[in-house]
Amino acid sequence: MAQPTAEIQQRAEKLRREVQEASYAYYVLDNPIMADEVYDRLYRELQDLEIQYPQLITPDSPTQRVGEKPASQFNSVKHNIPLYSLENAFNIEEFTRWQERWQRVYSADKFEYVCELKIDGSALALTYENGILIRGATRGDGITGEEITQNVKTIRSIPLRLNLDNPPPRIEVRGEAFLGLATFEKINEERAKKGEQLFANPRNAAAGTLRQLDSRIVAERKLDFFAYTLQIPDTDDEAVAARQLECLEKLEEMGFRVNPNRKLCQSLGEVAEYYDEWNTGRLTLPYMTDGVVVKINSVALQKRLGFTQKFPRWAVALKYAAEEAPTLVENISVNVGRTGALTPLAELKPVQLAGTTVSRATLHNIDYVQSLDIRVGDTVIVHKAGEIIPEVVRVLKELRPEKTKPFEMPNHCPVCGEPVFREGGEAVTRCVNASCGAILRGALVHWASRDALDINGLGEKIVAQFVDKKVVTSVADLYYLSVDDIARMERMGKKSAQKLIDGITASKKQPWARVLYGLGIRHVGSVNAKTLTEKFKNVDQLAGAKISEIEGVYGIGFEIAQAVFDWFRVEGNQQLIERLKGAGLQLANQEPTGVKEGKPAKLALSGKTFVITGTLPSLKRDEAKARIENAGGKVTGSVSAKTDYVVVGEDAGSKLQKAEELGISQLDEAQLLQLLED
Ligand code: IVH
Repeated sequence: MAQPTAEIQQRAEKLRREVQEASYAYYVLDNPIMADEVYDRLYRELQDLEIQYPQLITPDSPTQRVGEKPASQFNSVKHNIPLYSLENAFNIEEFTRWQERWQRVYSADKFEYVCELKIDGSALALTYENGILIRGATRGDGITGEEITQNVKTIRSIPLRLNLDNPPPRIEVRGEAFLGLATFEKINEERAKKGEQLFANPRNAAAGTLRQLDSRIVAERKLDFFAYTLQIPDTDDEAVAARQLECLEKLEEMGFRVNPNRKLCQSLGEVAEYYDEWNTGRLTLPYMTDGVVVKINSVALQKRLGFTQKFPRWAVALKYAAEEAPTLVENISVNVGRTGALTPLAELKPVQLAGTTVSRATLHNIDYVQSLDIRVGDTVIVHKAGEIIPEVVRVLKELRPEKTKPFEMPNHCPVCGEPVFREGGEAVTRCVNASCGAILRGALVHWASRDALDINGLGEKIVAQFVDKKVVTSVADLYYLSVDDIARMERMGKKSAQKLIDGITASKKQPWARVLYGLGIRHVGSVNAKTLTEKFKNVDQLAGAKISEIEGVYGIGFEIAQAVFDWFRVEGNQQLIERLKGAGLQLANQEPTGVKEGKPAKLALSGKTFVITGTLPSLKRDEAKARIENAGGKVTGSVSAKTDYVVVGEDAGSKLQKAEELGISQLDEAQLLQLLED
């Protein structure tokens, strides 16, 4: 083997240092000091020297981050110091109880907490001997983990050599390996392209990546790491660092990436503030967190408190309510809405999500079901954010039991048994039987709703009885009911029957615009109804109008005009109008138009601000805008902290990016339509 000259040895040494410094500046400090091309050139020069003179290779050389050959398996290793997990608290009350508990063990007069973000990744235990990384291991069960040193070395924010002049013989560092959200999405995109199973979340992706046998794949996946504990065996912990905050600073000095969003808190109130602040703040971070970790700052006090069987008494995980959770699909049912649309619904084993129990999730339509390939018996990930309707985001196919069958949409309406139709190009399957119970039930509930005829006491339960017992077969029948008819229904006395009759009678005074909205014509929301009734002063004018005349009204598009025109061509609908006229409903504007309309209608999306970005799959932008506005929402052109939802289509650009930065809820077209329908 050729021997390198002293000059070559020095050159290799210098290259190692420079490459290492540039990598530290880039990956740990997030502050590059060298152009990529220069870095590549220096790296290659070092690599060439090491190929020529293998004796120059040191274990901390930057070239040693990626191994050559895949491992055949991982060895288990016993941790020198066990890795404890943390007790959970899910709100400040539980945190207060945790505080009371540790204070019963030792009541300290004065104490401080350090709050850190709880990174949602996979814990790693790193061992350094004489300042050189010699071992990286997974947490495993806390006592024994798997040795994954070669994979750990690929993580650029983990130093291969500590920045210490006189390193102690052994140092143990713990922290969280994780995948940034952008990297996670890229990995899943590539897996989708290759038809591979997607990772359910960044945590699973990080854990799966760490256990990859081929470190070259691990290197490509770009894992990251935040360090949070430092231990030096045979050294008093207090001598290492008297406080947790100092421990974090020491880790930083040694060359680790430490999360900067930490806070020293003197009181429970300050902890609560930090917890609340990061509940929204975390949405702007480029990585996932699932809570905050609160630790007693004084290491002396930590030692006094010690550990229970499972947890340290001096630290607690103060977690945020989960927004995503796995659960089981117990059944897939089909709901028929008031427009006759058949919506498949996943009936789920109840699961706690973002503070509520979720037991159903919409599956939108058959295309959506087929793209997920969701089946009864599947384990799925359900997602719920804020006010958004829960949805199934992923199916964990690896957990699918045998003999499951793909879901098929029924050929007949599950309510009335009549055949259902799916018009070419439409995603929705519909029952078109006007006397279908589901359609009638929906029509009656809509008729009675606050923005329509606003009939007090006409709720879903009594409507269901009216329809099932065939007491009511159209909205007009309501006006011909007697107290006795209603009193015959279950849980209905004479008194409540009379009250309902009073409500129905009062509704005859509601203005023409509300009646038109109440008819439930497709695309005619309360705003469109108002617009139409301003132009068409009575029902006969509207019923006799040509499509072009309806479309000629400012704010009314072709689709709406067509729907209105078609509705009045149906004989049953014409009869309905006659019967409503007969019952004395307002089917014309009162002259002069100064009749009091009662309180202004509060619409479903009132007060909500939307921004639309990108191309939506079926709705034109104007149409989406009109529909949102019809439901009371506002559509603006730019994303700000005041935006409630961003509707995202294909090729969405900077607005989406801004929404992500601000943590604003995103909707796709299907979710928007669902929100509008609900
Ligand atoms: S301290 C004895 N600090 O959360 C102290 N853990 O649910 C042990 N985690 O297993 C951990 N961020 O994997 C600590 N800033 C942080 C953390 C953190 C994430 C993880 C860690 C631990 C789990 C406990």
